[in-house]
Amino acid sequence: MPAFPLPRLPRIVYGGDYNPEQWEPSVWAEDAHLMREAGVNLVSVGIFSWAMLEPRPGRYEFGWLDRVLDTLAEAGVSVCLANATASPPPWLAKKYPRSCAVARDGGVMFPGSRQHYSPFSADYRRCALALTERLAARYARHPALAAWHVNNEYSCHQQECHSDAATRAFRGWLRKKYRTLDALNEAWTTAFWSQRYGAWDEIWTPRRAPYHNNPAQELDYARFWDDGCLDLYLAERAVLKRHTPDVPVTTNFMWPFKPLNYRRWAQHCDFIALDTYPDPHGAPPEVAAFGHDLMRSLRPELPFVVMEQATTQVNWRPVNGLKRPGQMRALSLQAVARGADGVMFFQWRQSQGGAEKFHSAMVPHAGAYAGSRVWREVTGLGAELAQLTPVAGSGVKARAAIVFDWENWWALELPSKPARIDYAAVVADFHRLCFRRNLTVDFVTPDADLSAYEVVFAPALYLLRAADAMNLSDYARAGGKLVVSYFSGIVDEHERVALGGYPAHLREALGLVVEEWDGLAPGATRRVKLPGGKTTQAVEFAEVVHLEGAKATATFAEDFYAGKPAATRHRFGAGETFYLATRFDDAALARLLDGVVPRGAQAPAGVEISERREGRRTLTFVLNHTRAAVTVPLPRAAAGATDLLTGRKAGRSVKLAAFDCAVFAAR
Ligand code: GAL
Repeated sequence: MPAFPLPRLPRIVYGGDYNPEQWEPSVWAEDAHLMREAGVNLVSVGIFSWAMLEPRPGRYEFGWLDRVLDTLAEAGVSVCLANATASPPPWLAKKYPRSCAVARDGGVMFPGSRQHYSPFSADYRRCALALTERLAARYARHPALAAWHVNNEYSCHQQECHSDAATRAFRGWLRKKYRTLDALNEAWTTAFWSQRYGAWDEIWTPRRAPYHNNPAQELDYARFWDDGCLDLYLAERAVLKRHTPDVPVTTNFMWPFKPLNYRRWAQHCDFIALDTYPDPHGAPPEVAAFGHDLMRSLRPELPFVVMEQATTQVNWRPVNGLKRPGQMRALSLQAVARGADGVMFFQWRQSQGGAEKFHSAMVPHAGAYAGSRVWREVTGLGAELAQLTPVAGSGVKARAAIVFDWENWWALELPSKPARIDYAAVVADFHRLCFRRNLTVDFVTPDADLSAYEVVFAPALYLLRAADAMNLSDYARAGGKLVVSYFSGIVDEHERVALGGYPAHLREALGLVVEEWDGLAPGATRRVKLPGGKTTQAVEFAEVVHLEGAKATATFAEDFYAGKPAATRHRFGAGETFYLATRFDDAALARLLDGVVPRGAQAPAGVEISERREGRRTLTFVLNHTRAAVTVPLPRAAAGATDLLTGRKAGRSVKLAAFDCAVFAAR
């Protein structure tokens, strides 16, 4: 169960990134006043302020930040204070040219945008920690300080560095991991292509090369990058914790985001913070829901908040559609429904200049006036979130789980595979299946305790350690339902194939062996016969499966493998396993797994019903994500309960206008 309230943080947070350095001090008092009007109780300050806080090397200017924090404290607005290290000032690049990150091809990242530093630069690190030290010492006891925000979206723009310092660090990292070159040569299969290493300084980071780099080297580099960024975060966090052991520390995560293994990072956060920017025109509601479910699952015992989202449009897609009236509210309440204890925005006041001036904010260019739709929705949401305080700290119970593993993501999407598999997209197929049934899912690691779940999905689990395969098998053997999809159980942690027939360690549990596969180009399909005789067109991957006890539930209907299984079912111990040897569309997947995957509350298409629980109390969120009015039958826990947003008692159903929502609290 979440441990909210964390010391100092409001129970339900509401606010945004606040960048007062972009404005004359005369605006600050108005900001504080407007924040109160909007119900804002937390703002993130200073994220990109380094150049203002240390305008010359070693010359710090905190006077302006003192005034900002004092003004906010007087207004009763708490601060999630950044240590301001996300983007170093230009002087740092001039003084220490090697602090800039280096791309695979040797190209240098220069200042002029943001986040151009290398996490492996000792100069960057020293200066960043010195600034952190000063900030922590100065504001440790400031009444506005509620939390620390470290750096910003680590690795967001810079996802590799091949500088000399990074190369040295990589060699050191490998030495620590493998101890001997023999062990490294073995793990990396360097007998292949004359890659055998005779000295540590013969090894480079995987730089530009004529053809594919060694996949084990690439995989280790991905781990090294994750480790290096985490190490930097831990150093920054340690400074803050030394000064203020009781102040919660976090850094903001993104979704979908491949370069960092947030599972590991979450172990070092005091609460989880997510930045979420689903395309309001293109993305259906399950896209944002995926991120919320993943974030909640990283540390279920900790609170999570949406730290950034857009009030309406962003600036960084090729075309930026706006959120329609009510859509921002619905997406915000969706986050709360799925476990968030508050939502914040990027940003408070829309910038006048700079690259993000057309990114929406809580206070738009037009200003905060009653006629502004954005401002009206912002103040409306602030008032409503205050009414949702009873939700704070309540938990979310999931009946299903999806295995999601960052290491697998890194390995699966390396080149030279039978087909291009987009891991997040394949996983989303299964999340969407559950979302449309209002069945809440947790995301778990392959070694997690799975016993609480009625069904567990393991999509495209290409990299699978033997012990983890055993964990999945044991879950099924003990009575669970395990659904595995194609290209699973293929390699170990060194990208070495587990020989003897795929999916090696899962073969017994699934009751089948895969001998070969057909990679299908984008647009190519293979006809598959479903139960009941209907056919569907499968895509991406088609495996040639030999049954070893499992029964086929669908078969390929073309190519030389016509008649061979495309989906199977197998009794295993007290449970059952299911295998999908190709990628099915939503309708076929639902058909194949009907009766296997339980259903949550019934609702019309586009309406989400999610529950949070606190003790015996159930809070039911009914969210209409469509542009049409709907009547939604209420699940038992909500019928006759009171809507926390309107104060009205419900009957057996609720009518909701376009994008409207209700939150029922039942005892
Ligand atoms: C985030 C970032 C913010 C802002 C925002 C715009 O990635 O943390 O600083 O750039 O995107 O959507």
